[in-house]
Amino acid sequence: MRIIHSVAEFRAARAELPSLAFVPTMGNLHSGHIALATQAALHSPHVAASIFVNRLQFGPHEDFDRYPRTLAEDAAKLEEAGASLLFAPDEAEMYPQRQTYHVEPAAEHVSILEGEFRDGHFRGVATVVMKLLNIIQPTHALFGKKDYQQLMVLRNMVREFAMPLEVVAGETVRAEDGLALSSRNGYLTESERAEAPRLYATLQQIRDAVRSGATNFPQLESGAVEGLKASGWAPEYIRICRRSDLQPAHPDDPAPRVVLAAARLGATRLIDNLEI
Ligand code: PAF
Repeated sequence: MRIIHSVAEFRAARAELPSLAFVPTMGNLHSGHIALATQAALHSPHVAASIFVNRLQFGPHEDFDRYPRTLAEDAAKLEEAGASLLFAPDEAEMYPQRQTYHVEPAAEHVSILEGEFRDGHFRGVATVVMKLLNIIQPTHALFGKKDYQQLMVLRNMVREFAMPLEVVAGETVRAEDGLALSSRNGYLTESERAEAPRLYATLQQIRDAVRSGATNFPQLESGAVEGLKASGWAPEYIRICRRSDLQPAHPDDPAPRVVLAAARLGATRLIDNLEI
């Protein structure tokens, strides 16, 4: 696998390839990322990943500085998964001058859920992903369903800007006890790690209740919030939404649904979701 740090060198390598499946990441890779790289190989014999911790998508009090940077270990994992190119720019390469042009996602897609608690987050994500896609020029780009709202925003961005690539979704990979894999799980203390699967269990209870015919969605959501609070969590939201645009789901609307949650456990913020 070639590790490339410069845009010019990546463009030259890309020009040799008829197709390329791309997995953008911020590094500190876990089995969820590796599953995306493996899935990417179903779309092209050439797989590229990127590792770049994108300052633009972190709020001023978020974990940009302490976000784990583990390039050597990540590169070994990607190589084993069959990736042939790794784009790993530093900040000066990605943002040689202050980024003053941004991608502004639709307000109705980013003022809800994560956007209520992470102002400007999706603008930062959309801007860096637009820039990465312009550099990498993949035929396919893979994003995990773990970041369900991010996937929805990026799908819409690619469609509305008529970008010439296919967005492919990867299923969430979970630990045996149900906890969705995330680079931020490493922040959990031992006792928090033991408690953490409750978030997924809560989503499963909501899914089961809806599948069994429960129609009072606000009551299901607030009951779940109270349950998490009683176990020491600080929930930010638990919401049953339409999958397509993440607007609130209505019991009489048969459109496919997903339940999404964000909650803090100690100093760590966890998100998860489950299609219903
Ligand atoms: O999901 C992530 O890891 C990041 O948001 C992404 C898509 C790599 C953009 O920085």
